[in-house]
Amino acid sequence: MLAIHIFGDPILRKTAKLVTRFDEELKRFADEMTVTMREKDGVGLAATQTGKSVKMAVVDTSGGERKPYVLINPEITFSSEALSEEEEGCLSVPTIRLMVKRPSCVSVKAKGIDGKEFVIERAEGLMARVLQHEIDHLNGILFIDHVSPLQRRLINGKLKKLAKSGGEE
Ligand code: NI
Repeated sequence: MLAIHIFGDPILRKTAKLVTRFDEELKRFADEMTVTMREKDGVGLAATQTGKSVKMAVVDTSGGERKPYVLINPEITFSSEALSEEEEGCLSVPTIRLMVKRPSCVSVKAKGIDGKEFVIERAEGLMARVLQHEIDHLNGILFIDHVSPLQRRLINGKLKKLAKSGGEE
């Protein structure tokens, strides 16, 4: 299992690099990311969270029923004007859950592990939310960046503690 990097680690704020080599090593890494996501009961995991600053994420909102999506160099190609607000959390920001407003529907273009491009058309609900959350990670953005200054102030103490402890309780 891969170690999850916790809030305060500068890698979480970096823009990840594009993946250019689709080889066996990339496949192994995708498998490791999937195992880690499942182990941690996550619905998504971005490579940056595991200390690797490359544009890659795994997403599974089926509870392990289906194969996870492996998204390489993903891009949002459509976002609805309609927004929805739901509670979010993040493996890199443990103990904090907040209501986050995001477009309720998105389309995403990405490459698969084989290097072939594919499109997820008009994802909605949890899938739309997770896609946006993981693609944010690859651009150095965390879900706590989307909340109001007031909400942010309320969690500031917790965030400082997290950054100090590196995730150790
Ligand atoms: Ni996250």
